[in-house]
Amino acid sequence: MKLQARHLLGLEGMSGGDINLILDTADSFYGVLQRDVKVVPTLRGKTIVNLFYENSTRTRISFELAEKRLSASPLNFSASTSSIHKGEGLRDTIRNIEAMKIDMVVVRHSCAGAPYFLTQCTDAVIINAGDGLHEHPTQALLDMMTIRQKLGRLEGLKVAIIGDIFHSRVARSNAWGMKTMGMDVILCGPPTFLPQHHDCLGVPVTDNIDEALEGADVVMLLRVQLERQSSAVFPSVHEYRDRYGFDIDRLSKLKKDVIIMHPGPINRGVELASNVADSEHSVILDQVTNGVAVRMAVLYLLGGGENG
Ligand code: CP
Repeated sequence: MKLQARHLLGLEGMSGGDINLILDTADSFYGVLQRDVKVVPTLRGKTIVNLFYENSTRTRISFELAEKRLSASPLNFSASTSSIHKGEGLRDTIRNIEAMKIDMVVVRHSCAGAPYFLTQCTDAVIINAGDGLHEHPTQALLDMMTIRQKLGRLEGLKVAIIGDIFHSRVARSNAWGMKTMGMDVILCGPPTFLPQHHDCLGVPVTDNIDEALEGADVVMLLRVQLERQSSAVFPSVHEYRDRYGFDIDRLSKLKKDVIIMHPGPINRGVELASNVADSEHSVILDQVTNGVAVRMAVLYLLGGGENG
């Protein structure tokens, strides 16, 4: 089976059938990753450029690992050591890289829409690894894979996504993807952390954390992006932790089988207490493990892999 689109730019508008296809394929690759020999030959001969203009630990390493597990040839572009410091723009950069005969590009960029822009400049397949405040589709896919793995289904489950919603591309991709999959999503944060136009995400938004947490099956904390805050929207870390931080006391009032998620990196003691991040309810490291399988699935489905 094939995905409807040639690129992965975001989950807004992606069908439930395509999301299920990626998650089912990721489950198969998860099985491959439990074997002694974790490499399959499906993308042998394909060259994939990891074009990261922003910092990353989990996404960049898991894409590179996924490419190696599929027998592709990864090339890593680091903005800090590239010719962008000599003034070369994104269009010229990708056209020069394409001239070296590459097949796929995984891109992270601070500008929303950069992956779409690349589809207009190159024939290579483009995969969005996070674009500005817009989308982070593979993160949302690995989040849904993890929920399905831990709780057995997606449809009908309540997910509370709490934190800096406004600055979060993870919240956007999850809101769109989870809604498509029939989940009951609620976004929560201080009023200054909420998007002004709530309707565009199609899910309820609240500044009342008790309302958000009531009956939740999944709680997803988001990183307070301290580097993006101004004093006008963020009075103090202490105030944030007291009003919206998720700790043992809040955990103790939830369902016995609730799972706690975070895309990372965590500000321990700000949005999430350390003893909750490391508790048996936490699936944060499972999310990281599943990131490799989901990225293998996306690369495989878009890269025309065979013999999977
Ligand atoms: N979740 C996530 O995108 O983490 P990185 O920024 O480390 O890739």
